[in-house]
Amino acid sequence: MARCENQLKPRKPLSDTKSNGLPDWGDRVKSVDNFVEVLASIQEKDFTVPRVAEYVRDNPVDPDSLSPYLFYSPTHYTRNLIYKCDLFELIAICWDVGHRSAIHNHQNQNCWMAVPIGRLAVQNYELLRASDQTNFCELREADRIVMDPENPSFVDPKTPIHAVLNLPEYGERATSLHIYSRPYDHCLVYALESKCYWDVPLLYDTEYGRPAPPEKTSRGH
Ligand SMILES: [Fe+2]
Repeated sequence: MARCENQLKPRKPLSDTKSNGLPDWGDRVKSVDNFVEVLASIQEKDFTVPRVAEYVRDNPVDPDSLSPYLFYSPTHYTRNLIYKCDLFELIAICWDVGHRSAIHNHQNQNCWMAVPIGRLAVQNYELLRASDQTNFCELREADRIVMDPENPSFVDPKTPIHAVLNLPEYGERATSLHIYSRPYDHCLVYALESKCYWDVPLLYDTEYGRPAPPEKTSRGH
């Protein structure tokens, strides 16, 4: 598959696989607590797309450490808040087989993604035309990349519209980690066929390992 601009060089090959089938990164893995601790120490001026992308690439998160945040639902992918500050938030998104996000934007914020468990496709879209008077939009499919434990990615600010898919043929659940900077609580979603877009709230299914209050529960976007 052709490598696109927002796909990082792959991590070094996995050396082993644990008995539970998850990748074993040996000494290179960080617990998610450790991952957050270092991320939170990066100064705002250094919290740039390439710097954070390098950090994500070089610091794979131990899947075992994510267990407090893994909540899969048969009906929708779940958004699970791990950490939030003014500068960024870290979310684990749990995807059952066949789950996919709507086509969405990122509110002019940066987004970095890693997939410690499973595999996910990112389908990018080009916005050809849009009207904020009528909510009309016209999109065209652009490139598609695949993320897995060896291949994290990030959103190129020049092409901020995409959908994330756990394709049925992958045949397994997936969990992705998303860093958003700054945090945002709504975004635009786009309908390819009906050529319209609208604003949706972004909520959490769980916060810090516990169910979110009912009024804050996500049902996907
Ligand atoms: Fe996204």
